Parts: sequence; structure tokens; C-alpha cells
Amino acid sequence: MQSISAKPETRIDADALADLPRIGAPAVIVIFGASGDLTHRKLVPALYNLSAQSLLDERSQIIGVARRDKSDKQFRAEMEEGIRKYSHVAFDERIWRSLAPRIRYIRGSFDDADTYARLGACLSDLRTGDAAVRNRVYYLATPPRSFGTIVGHLSHANLTGDDPDAGFVRIIVEKPFGHDLETAQALNEEIATAFREDQIFRIDHYLGKETVQNVLVFRLANGIFEPLWNRRYVDHVQITAAESIGVEGRAGYFDRAGMARDMLQSHLLQLLTLIAMEPPVAFEARAVHDEKVKVLRSLRLPDAETLRSVSVRAQYGTGAIAGEQVVGYCDEEGVAADSQTETYVAIRLELDNWRWAGVPFYLRTGKRLPKRATEVAIQFKQPPFALFERSGVPRLDANVLAIRIQPDEGISLKFASKVPGHDFHVDPVQMDFLYSRAFGIEPPEAYERLLMDAVAGDSTLFARIDEVELGWRLTDALRAAWQEPGGSDLARYEAGSWGPREADLLLEREGRRWRRL
Ligand code: BG6
Repeated sequence: MQSISAKPETRIDADALADLPRIGAPAVIVIFGASGDLTHRKLVPALYNLSAQSLLDERSQIIGVARRDKSDKQFRAEMEEGIRKYSHVAFDERIWRSLAPRIRYIRGSFDDADTYARLGACLSDLRTGDAAVRNRVYYLATPPRSFGTIVGHLSHANLTGDDPDAGFVRIIVEKPFGHDLETAQALNEEIATAFREDQIFRIDHYLGKETVQNVLVFRLANGIFEPLWNRRYVDHVQITAAESIGVEGRAGYFDRAGMARDMLQSHLLQLLTLIAMEPPVAFEARAVHDEKVKVLRSLRLPDAETLRSVSVRAQYGTGAIAGEQVVGYCDEEGVAADSQTETYVAIRLELDNWRWAGVPFYLRTGKRLPKRATEVAIQFKQPPFALFERSGVPRLDANVLAIRIQPDEGISLKFASKVPGHDFHVDPVQMDFLYSRAFGIEPPEAYERLLMDAVAGDSTLFARIDEVELGWRLTDALRAAWQEPGGSDLARYEAGSWGPREADLLLEREGRRWRRL
């Protein structure tokens, strides 16, 4: 296929980012679970990057709380290492020197009241000190089993109330939000004893990805796509989140979760809502959440037998990725030899609403696939009749609009073109937009955006509780259908392949094919 490049008309200046009116007030960001991977790989590098771009008020403070014994100095050294390794902004000694003294560490157990007494004392000092930082953002970067304990203690220690004098208090909760609908509701009730809904920010880091945010801009800031965005013109939609990695030392969590809970319930359904939702009345949290919830409510929930027939669950065996031999899932460290956990899931969904009735949405996600690629593809219907057939042109590929979420972030449109020459040949060509080429800058990390928004109090890019619950409704029903006696078999696929044959059949029986990415 040939490729036609779209030329950018506007370039944005990196300095222009600093003019964003979104910088929140100075805040103390308290990270529970500060010894974990997320803190030094994502959170602190993101806060550093925000500082480097002047997007975090320079009086803001960071407090890490965790069980391990270490001094402020050691904690800072670890964070510096994380920034040097994982930040996408080059390390700048000057910025680090301004941020480092504002990073502290509190050692303590999450279930020990004394931890919170010391945290309270530290927060009071910061409130009365020269910088006078009153606002607080708690980040729960811990295993979910600690969420309730932490919230209970924060509340008990009077650290959750926000009043004009104390400044604002917000809480960011990492995913997974619950293990199923029941646990999600219980967790929400626990958090709600101490925080109002507008103080709770539930992370789905896909929503912070630049390309995911751009889905709504692409649809609604352009006049030409939205009229086509419906059952009249769209044949079907494919959403793929492929990963080449396996469980990467997270077997303890993943083996209990599986791909449906880990990826489908959250990231894939969030992508689906942004693609399928009606235009909101305003680009602000409530209006956007309301429209997303409508999509999730219109998700058809078939009976168990139908659910089994429209879904595939599978697990990878040994294979090779990029020429390197890798073990099968059951041979991964920490995974039981007879584990039945799915590392791949594919499902055909339908939305019972005016816009999308009858349009299938095929979703697939898997680990140990040949490469990392997340994409949403809108496949349009064929023209009403094949005008060029008599000129010897066979039926052509349909138009496809592909939104590449990662990597090679961009958007492409496939259409048919006459091949130059006296013969009548028609070939598919592709019009391509690439972020890197158009803007010349790398998209920021999802966590930067999300931390910035939480500090600014904007929850548009976070998941509201009803979205989370509706996600679980589908995932619970699916898992229950799989687990019924005589339920669906766990299919197998070779690591490094594009998933099991059963997933291909899911589309082939309807005369369609998964896209080759
Ligand atoms: C996480 C899942 O939420 O998302 C992981 O728990 C998965 O299993 C990850 O690997 C994928 O995120 P990304 O940003 O690398 O696509």
C-alpha cells in the first residue's frame, strides 16, 4: 500500500505549554506506596517533568509514605535515579535541585495510627511554614487491599476535611478499582465515608494518554467526521490493545485478575466510550461522564450462552517474541502450573442505542502478542455498488480510519486511488498523520496530565464511579459465563502470535477480519 503524508499546518511551541491555565494551586502530594514501582517509574518522574515545564507550582511538596526504613536523603536518591532512568525530559540538575528539598519520606505501616500522626505533624509544619502549603492530594499507589485502611486512618486522624482554611483535599486512587462489582462498591463506600465524589479521582491512565484525549478533539473539533460516525456509514469498529510483554513480575496480582479484569474492564471500555459517546454539552467533567455512562448503559448484556459465543479467552504458551524465546504463561515465575487465567480476551459487543444499533464493536487485548500496539479502527461500509467492477476492478478494501493510540501515535485513513497509467488499476492508499512529524514534540506521559488535572481539580479524565460499576457489570457477567459448568474452554496461543484461531473465527464467521497491525 502506498502512503501519502499529511503536512502539518500548525506547529506548537513547547514553551506554549507553560501558558496553559491549568496549573493548580501549590499542594502537598502524599504518595502512599512510595517504595513501589509506580512511584519511581511514573509518579515522581511525572512530577519532575511537570516542574521542568513550570506546570507544577514551585511551592508544591511531595511526601512518600511506605513501610521500608529509609531517610529523606535515601528516598530522594532513589527518586533521582527513577527520574534519570524513566523521565522523557532530559535530566536537568537545576530543576532537580529545586525539587529535591521538597521531597520527604515518612516510614510507617499503613495500619498504624502513628504513621498518620507523623504525617499530620508534617502537613501542619508545611501549612505554617514559609511556603504555607495547605492543599493536599493523597495518591494511593498501594495494593488495593490497603485502600480502605489508609482512608480510615486518614479520616480518623482528621486529615481528610477540606475547608477554606485547610485548603482542598483530594484523593487519587490507582486501578484496579475493586475486583468485581461488589468489591468496587464496597471500596467506594469505604472511600465515601471520608471523601465526597468530587474529591475522588479514579485513575485509568489510558485517559491521560495524549492520543486518547485527541479522540474527542478529532471527532468534535472537525466538521467532516461526525456526520459519518454512526450506523449508517460505519460497518464495524475494532479496538486492539496488544502487548508484547508478559506478566513482568506482577504474577501475584495478574494471576488473580486476568486480562478481562486488567484491561477490558478499564482501558478498553474507556476507549469504547470515547469512540461511541454522543457529543457532550460542554467539555467539562460532568457532561463528559454523563455521556460516557450512557454508552456503558447501552452495552447489550446478553445471556451467558450468548456471551460465551461472542467472546474468546486464551492463554499463551511458549513462543518467540522478536526472535527471542519466551516461556509460556504457566511457566512464568509466581504462576501456578495449572493456572486457568486468561492472558488474551476478545469480545464482540453491541450498543443498543440510536447511533450504533447493529454495529459490532470487536475488542481484543492480549499479552505476549508480536508487538505493542493499541489502536481503534473504524471500518466504513462499502459504496452501495461496485461501479468499477466492469472495468475489471475487483471489490476493494473498505475505507478504514485508524487511530493509533501507541506507539507511532497518529491517525490514518485508507481509501482507494487510481494507480497512474493507462490501465484501470485501483489500489488502497493511506493518508497519514503522525504526531511526532506534525508537532515535533513527544506526547507527554499520561501520568503528567492526570497529576496536573487532579491538582487543578479537573476530573474529566478520571473514571466516575458509575463508569467503573458499569465496566464491572459487563466483566462480571462475562467471567460468570466462562465459569459456568461446561463454560468456555481456555484457548491457547503461541507467544509471539496474534492470538488464538478462535478469535479469528469470531470475525470470520461474520465475513470480517482482524486488522493486521
Ligand atoms: C495496566 C495493566 O493498567 O496497563 C497492565 O495493569 C498493562 O497489565 C498496562 O500492561 C498497559 O499500559 P500501557 O500504558 O503500557 O499500554
